[in-house]
Amino acid sequence: MIVLVGFMGAGKTTVGHLLSERLGLPFLDSDLVIEQRTGCQIRQFFAENGEPAFRELESRVICELVDGSEAVLALGGGAAGHPDTIAGLKSAQVIYLQVSYEEAMLRVAGDPYRPMLSRPGLEDLYQHRLSLYDTVATLTVATDGRHPEAVSQDVLAQLARVPAVPPVTT
Ligand code: S3P
Repeated sequence: MIVLVGFMGAGKTTVGHLLSERLGLPFLDSDLVIEQRTGCQIRQFFAENGEPAFRELESRVICELVDGSEAVLALGGGAAGHPDTIAGLKSAQVIYLQVSYEEAMLRVAGDPYRPMLSRPGLEDLYQHRLSLYDTVATLTVATDGRHPEAVSQDVLAQLARVPAVPPVTT
């Protein structure tokens, strides 16, 4: 399982689609799966149920997807903060797409479908999440100023060099 993590605007969905084509694996997006299952958009779910309920559901969905068939799976930007998700990702190849706060905001500013963008203290949240992404990542790829195609090539090159996850024990 190839999992993409990173802040909003890192390019997880775009790069995920490119990787799924190149690797011949299905593409999954945890936010889309949640929307399909609840029949409700993420922003509506936040408005009606609040962020803690979203995080619980998000973690359950991700753990289930990670345990399922091989795929390229893009996670929402806040998913790596849940302890069950962190534990569930131990069996996956987790690629952290790095983006600076400034570039992330240029990419997603004003998107009404991302409820976290209107949250006060967003830059502090970004700073807090950096160590979470580092904790779960098995590979890290920079994205600032780069085309998604170049980022996906970089991911593929790095994947070719690293051992499978989890490591094979003898
Ligand atoms: C969130 C990011 C969103 C989505 C939800 C919460 C976050 O996904 O999961 O709005 O907390 O950063 P993207 O990272 O794909 O925008």
